[in-house]
Amino acid sequence: MLFPDFRARRLRDNSNFRRMIRETTLLVDDLILPLFAVEGKSVKKPIPSMPGHFHLSCDMLVKTVKEAHDLGIPAVMLFGLPEKKDPLGTGAYAHDGIVQKAIKAVKESVPEIAVLTDVCLCQYTDHGHCGMVENGKVDNDASLDLLARTALSHAQSGADMVAPSDMMDGRVGEIRQTLDEEGFSGIPIMSYAVKYASAFYGPFREAADSTPQFGDRKTYQMDPANALEAIREATMDIEEGADIIMVKPALSYLDIISRLRDEIDLPLAAYSVSGEYAMIKAGEMMGWIDGQKMVMETLLSIKRAGADMILTYSAMEAAKALNTREY
Ligand code: PBG
Repeated sequence: MLFPDFRARRLRDNSNFRRMIRETTLLVDDLILPLFAVEGKSVKKPIPSMPGHFHLSCDMLVKTVKEAHDLGIPAVMLFGLPEKKDPLGTGAYAHDGIVQKAIKAVKESVPEIAVLTDVCLCQYTDHGHCGMVENGKVDNDASLDLLARTALSHAQSGADMVAPSDMMDGRVGEIRQTLDEEGFSGIPIMSYAVKYASAFYGPFREAADSTPQFGDRKTYQMDPANALEAIREATMDIEEGADIIMVKPALSYLDIISRLRDEIDLPLAAYSVSGEYAMIKAGEMMGWIDGQKMVMETLLSIKRAGADMILTYSAMEAAKALNTREY
């Protein structure tokens, strides 16, 4: 049917009609809030390139998690900044490591919220790479045991789900096997399966002090030019036992989210990364854009593309807006 018989504007005429024909709904249930834990007490140190985000000592982190829980956010993703780094990233799998302590603190005070943990070595290694380095190269197979130990120590500390972000081949299988052997067969793995070598991680690397000290991450993270490879990566991780597949970053990779939604039947997560957050914050601070509206539109677009859940630094503000229907 063509104009004038058909008029697309009829169903846009008023807010009730618009509500009735909305195809995509963003919910507080869809949001996961990433947080950065540091040693110490009463520490709440602003992260300059991520306004509204902080390095939080466990006592302060717990307060933020309570707030998130009160807003209805179902899960947080914990990152840790250790006091010392070394070539093997031992802080990542230390029983009294920073993330391990943060997990326990959160589980003690806000047991209702799901605690997810980022499993990687880059914040803990002095060279800043996500795996073990041998002869100037990131050694895939030698890294697997350390990553599995890291995931296991998170589970032993009470994590509800582990999320490997290192991009070593075979790590999901290794982690699954280790968790199963040690009595954690019920702990799901959210795999950062489709993780691109992206400039959008810039503010995070400042926040987590995890910039590689030599080279870059292109030998393990994916080339932004590739889409078919995303299917291969996801398929491989599913075969190895992943429960949730993640695409990261989100905004420049909506086509990948959409494609994977058609290809796989597991829940799909998207990580709207630090650079996506910082861009909107910067524009807002310049007075050039309406930051809150752009956050909501961005999250909606990620959901529309096919993501079931979104890791976003805007989770709190988005939850507030959703709870008051101010969007
Ligand atoms: C660790 C990790 C990174 C991010 C999440 N986990 C950094 C990286 O791979 O360089 C990025 C998150 C963000 O930018 O918000 N490997």
